[in-house]
Amino acid sequence: MKNDSSIEYAILTEEQISPELNKELVSYLSEIFPEWAEVFARERAWHDARPIWTTLAFVDGKVVGHTAVVERTITTDWNWRYKVVSLQGVAVRPEWRGRGIGRKLLKLALDEAKRRGYPFATIFCKEKMVPYYESLGWQLPEDSMIMWKDRALPIPMRSNCPMYQVLGEIPFPEGPIDVHNPFGFDVLDRVGDRRTGPRE
Ligand SMILES: CC(C)(COP(=O)(O)OP(=O)(O)OC[C@H]1O[C@@H](n2cnc3c(N)ncnc32)[C@H](O)[C@@H]1OP(=O)(O)O)[C@@H](O)C(=O)NCCC(=O)NCCS
Repeated sequence: MKNDSSIEYAILTEEQISPELNKELVSYLSEIFPEWAEVFARERAWHDARPIWTTLAFVDGKVVGHTAVVERTITTDWNWRYKVVSLQGVAVRPEWRGRGIGRKLLKLALDEAKRRGYPFATIFCKEKMVPYYESLGWQLPEDSMIMWKDRALPIPMRSNCPMYQVLGEIPFPEGPIDVHNPFGFDVLDRVGDRRTGPRE
């Protein structure tokens, strides 16, 4: 095992990800999340949620850690809208776990989100991972976040735990939140008042 000083970190936009690296990431994610291999076999973007940037850890030019950052629009009970970042595919290669790589990748992703002016970050994780994210400053909302199936039926989040982190001055909204889809289309027509992040 190499020592920790051999780990290199990078923040890459989609344009900076070469076809070769894309191929490596697809196989990396399929290996770490075998239950989702079918999704990653089609493309790296999780259910069409294309990352804006990806934080990566490399050793000898090979990926040992990954976190992708997508943009999502959340809508609160009072129809306030916020553009937020949402993290996905948080994954460290098994033999490199427990050395702070996950923590560092998440910090890099959130520092970049703060720099770009996003008010909040969200993540959906398995229940057993909640203590991990709590130890890194993530919180479970008091009210449930909801997603919409076919834009009509709300799906309560249970097995998939929503968590958030406040990145700026605005406190996290109270009450139910529709996290909808990464781009927030459709819901845009229904809201009156709005408050958005930096990328209107
Ligand atoms: C979750 C994962 C990314 C963590 O990566 P990592 O590099 O091992 O994490 P870190 O070394 O940064 O851990 C930071 C701290 O969290 C702790 N931690 C790690 N896994 C934990 C878990 N499952 N539950 C609670 N705490 C955990 C570590 O002990 C460490 O604590 P310390 O600072 O007191 O030593 C890695 O285990 C992984 O890839 N798992 C498989 C994929 C996965 O489940 N991803 C999450 C999807 S939501």
